[in-house]
Amino acid sequence: MAKAAKKKSAKKTAKKPARKMNYYFTVKDSVKVVHDRSGPKANKRVKYLTDTLVKHLHAFIKEARPTMDEWMHGINFLTRTGQICNEWRQEYILLSDVLGVSMLVETLNHEKMSGETESTVLGPFYIPNAPRYNHGDNICLDGKGEPVFVFGRVTNAKGRPIEGATLEVWQANEDGFYDVQQKGIQPDMNLRGIFNSDKDGRWGFRSAYPRFYPIPYDGPVGDLLKGLDRNPNRPAHLHFMVSAPGYEKLITHIFTPDCPWLKDDAVFGVKQSLIADFKKVDDAAKAAKLGLPNPFRQVEWNVVMAKEKK
Ligand code: BEZ
Ligand code: FE
Repeated sequence: MAKAAKKKSAKKTAKKPARKMNYYFTVKDSVKVVHDRSGPKANKRVKYLTDTLVKHLHAFIKEARPTMDEWMHGINFLTRTGQICNEWRQEYILLSDVLGVSMLVETLNHEKMSGETESTVLGPFYIPNAPRYNHGDNICLDGKGEPVFVFGRVTNAKGRPIEGATLEVWQANEDGFYDVQQKGIQPDMNLRGIFNSDKDGRWGFRSAYPRFYPIPYDGPVGDLLKGLDRNPNRPAHLHFMVSAPGYEKLITHIFTPDCPWLKDDAVFGVKQSLIADFKKVDDAAKAAKLGLPNPFRQVEWNVVMAKEKK
């Protein structure tokens, strides 16, 4: 056989060298040692996410070099974070929120292309099955706070009205608490409700001017904020969850423009486009028509929905 042909067939039959496995742990190869432990039946996505997490966690440890006591403190912190969770308290979400992780995941997953309404964090105080209301109804059941009329339209990015969109709204009361935080003090379902847009995409309701409030900070996340000399307040806002067939569900807030905490939201939820214009209105006839005392506030907020990805 000619030399060249021999070389070619040797190349064809040569086995790929076995991948070098690292069995024993070294600081230098720590990431590879952990990655190599996964088996051939590993779920691809689980492996990718875990391997990436391990890569960055090891880099963090190598850079920050926590002492054994600090590492144990971290373990105890996570243990307490789990132990304080219950039906109404989700401390892990709160941790993700104050570290800016919730906003990062949320924003990367909802990049808006054509002027659609921006989204923000869901927060822990949403509950499904709030009361269903008609256009113009009042969701403020405790009568507290400055009255406000909130109204607008739901459209697509081309400005076409979306009829029958469902708008779920919820907010804290004038004292800065949600109904679920003050069972027996506030009426159940205070300041929450479900509305539908009409054939022109219009919706509207009466409520109370929202006030800023602290996120729950009597647990491990609060300790962390104290340790970092960080503010626990969220600027005043009203939550919206808007759904319509064929459109991406939109989870967002509108913020009042005069809140002292707008630039220091404990969970980084403020986006410039979500700061709304709550106008002061002094018009007795209009107030009477809306069923509000005069003067009152009103805010027009138009929701632009993004088409669902196919
Ligand atoms: C809220 O706006 O309800 C909220 C969001 C994140 C953490 C705590 C509260
Ligand atoms: Fe909130």
